[in-house]
Amino acid sequence: METRVKPYNKESIAEGAEIIRRGGVVAFRTETVYGLGANAYDAAAVRQIFRAKGRPSDNPLIVHLPSVGGIETVAREVPDYAGILIDRFMPGPLSLVLKKRPLIPDAVTAGLDTVAVRVPADAAAREFIAAAGVPVAAPSANLSGRPSPTAAAHVLADMNGKIPLILGEELAVVGLESTVLDCTVYPPQILREGGITREQIEAALGITLSGAEKNSDKPRAPGMKYKHYAPNIPLYYAANGRETALIDKLEEIGADGGAAVIVLTRAAAELFCELDCDVLIAGEGLKESARNLYSVLRSAEKIFENLLVLGAPDDGIGRAINNRLEKACGGNLL
Ligand code: TXA
Ligand code: MG
Repeated sequence: METRVKPYNKESIAEGAEIIRRGGVVAFRTETVYGLGANAYDAAAVRQIFRAKGRPSDNPLIVHLPSVGGIETVAREVPDYAGILIDRFMPGPLSLVLKKRPLIPDAVTAGLDTVAVRVPADAAAREFIAAAGVPVAAPSANLSGRPSPTAAAHVLADMNGKIPLILGEELAVVGLESTVLDCTVYPPQILREGGITREQIEAALGITLSGAEKNSDKPRAPGMKYKHYAPNIPLYYAANGRETALIDKLEEIGADGGAAVIVLTRAAAELFCELDCDVLIAGEGLKESARNLYSVLRSAEKIFENLLVLGAPDDGIGRAINNRLEKACGGNLL
């Protein structure tokens, strides 16, 4: 099958919507990352997503809607506090886990009684979902385990020949996935840090959220237990403040080890400017680094043999960046 990339426009949106309605799979840009979408009501269509990604079938998908008005068509219980979050942050990079309605098949939710719902901020993505006329189930459009795609070229690298169409040519502006928030409990629980920060949710609800996911043996977002976001060369992660451990590792790897250091702010680059190695600055500040992170990982793996990355301060979008890097390093913590 030939995989075509098309910018979002009237014709390409109509074509993508038709493919979805006929039970096919289409990759589409959202403000977070590219998604790999299919009709959420059609279990056979949804199973094709799992096949294309090589995704374990016990990892549920997020259901994408064109507007918040559609949430109650797929969820049967929306608590009052969730209403506050919907008003404040949706459309946007926030996915709410709610009790599901029976018309959402087990293939989407991995047999759970809940469904994650999201309304993208990307207006073209919403137009595409609206044109499809059905909710669109979509994980990130990468091969399972790889960094999420923030550019059409990343999707093509992972999905060429497996899907007919990639919609949207410009970059995803947020660059990290949505925050996944379990709203079947109170206080709600963050299952995955992301584009809407813990601080923003706490301020909107006037409460403090616990950081349970990190301490729990069994993460409640099933996907978080798998290796994720990883480049195909070793990645070593030093938490913010552990620069010395990073420098020690760099010495151990040695000058012939093809190592590069990734930093998340220009200021952090100064810590390493005396060293004899390449320093890649993911962005001037954390927002830009969040946008560029996956792209930097995908480019750097083609050039270097080892990557070392210094984490961000652990708040705001920094926490989401660190979460992805911790998973991406596959246990190589410095
Ligand atoms: O920004 C995003 O969220 C992107 C774009 C395409 O919308 N999507 C995305 O999907 O990142 P995915 O499949 O890569 O990650 C979804 C995460 C997984 O960790 C999954 O386990 C969790 O959300 N999840 C989905 N449905 C859930 C549910 N009912 N209960 C708990 N966790 C759920
Ligand atoms: Mg993913």
